[in-house]
Amino acid sequence: MKRVTVGICGLGTVGAGTLALLQRNAADIADRAGCQIEIGRLGVRGDRPDVETGTIPVSRDVMAVADDPEIDILVELIGGTDTALALVRRALANGKHVVTANKALIAEFGNELFHSAAEAGVSLSYEAAVAGGIPVIKALREGLSANRIQWLAGIINGTGNFILTEMRDRGRDFAEVLAEAQALGYAEADPTFDVEGIDAAHKLVILAAIAFGMPLQFDKVYTEGITGIETVDVGYAEQLGYRIKHLGIARRTEQGIELRVHPTLIPAKRLLANVNGVKNAVLVEGDAVGPTLYYGAGAGAEPTASAVVADVIDLARNLARGQGSAVPMLGVQPEAIESRPILPMEDVRTAWYLRMTAEDKPGVLSDVASICSRAGVSIEALIQKEPAEGQTRVPVIILTNRTREGELNRVAREIEALDSIEGQITRIRVEALDG
Ligand code: HSE
Repeated sequence: MKRVTVGICGLGTVGAGTLALLQRNAADIADRAGCQIEIGRLGVRGDRPDVETGTIPVSRDVMAVADDPEIDILVELIGGTDTALALVRRALANGKHVVTANKALIAEFGNELFHSAAEAGVSLSYEAAVAGGIPVIKALREGLSANRIQWLAGIINGTGNFILTEMRDRGRDFAEVLAEAQALGYAEADPTFDVEGIDAAHKLVILAAIAFGMPLQFDKVYTEGITGIETVDVGYAEQLGYRIKHLGIARRTEQGIELRVHPTLIPAKRLLANVNGVKNAVLVEGDAVGPTLYYGAGAGAEPTASAVVADVIDLARNLARGQGSAVPMLGVQPEAIESRPILPMEDVRTAWYLRMTAEDKPGVLSDVASICSRAGVSIEALIQKEPAEGQTRVPVIILTNRTREGELNRVAREIEALDSIEGQITRIRVEALDG
């Protein structure tokens, strides 16, 4: 049987999971790959005494893996865009195939790296970079390749979904749940990437590039995290028949591509609303197939390793047959990748959840309703609570119809300027996810 040699750089959560999986399932993996996959070298900058490396040579200088002539496939699991970027550049320049789980690297430097890979006649594979163990890159790039993709929406950060789920189901404190997500190996090295939506934005950019055949444009994503979500809004959303989820959304419109990450109210009856804990799910609507849903673990050692090793197997199959991959790295042939305008947020149309604090006196609701109606914003649902004992102010919650965001901003400013309204309006976008 032929032999393909892999070098793994980085032995953190995913690196250790990848090593364990390659060793545990070696026989099945060889049957599927049509060759033996040997781990030829590990590149580890720090000590990992808890990881059993056996007789595999270990280099403290990770560049030694990129320079090792015996290595066919370099697996980059260091993360970040410093050492990882230099390492991947070097490996590609040395004619090695690369597998990575690094979404920041692909989202921010993918255009350059895919070009370098193509020049060198090698592949840069990144299934594990999006939605952990869910093979959504393969689904989009291959399974749905006959479709014109209209839109996709996903829960693509496991840590954020874990936090929102624990807050809703157990009323737990944000910081406490985040600490647990870190201990479980779900969170990024810098967890603000998870809770501020940066990690989801990295993943969305990758999905959108494949879905719409356009370059990776991380700087164009509108990004809003979950740190502003209050338990009170989770409760009102439930009363209205909705759940709050942190979504990445990419949509093709006549005016341009929507590219946005933000908390979103979605109907509780949607499958996506019932994706809980560290699970991720991506809903993709193609013109031929209709809606399709991909679900599974979005973070963690072995779920992510599952995607890394699948990429290694794909490459090993090609190497064993002496052929390159026939699947373009972004799903369309490089010369067919086309820049597309990104729709400014003020032109994006969504429905809205608005929560305001109003004085409990006659005429307030009619003032608010008049402002909405003058702007053509229709009120679809409304909750007003009785004031608490001794209070003169009440929460008012409104669900609007779909409105251009620029118009909604103007309406919100006008309502906030009313004497009877206290402070700022809490605003969360609402998506029906039905077309
Ligand atoms: N921190 C990421 C998450 C890891 O929580 O989804 C997987 O990309």
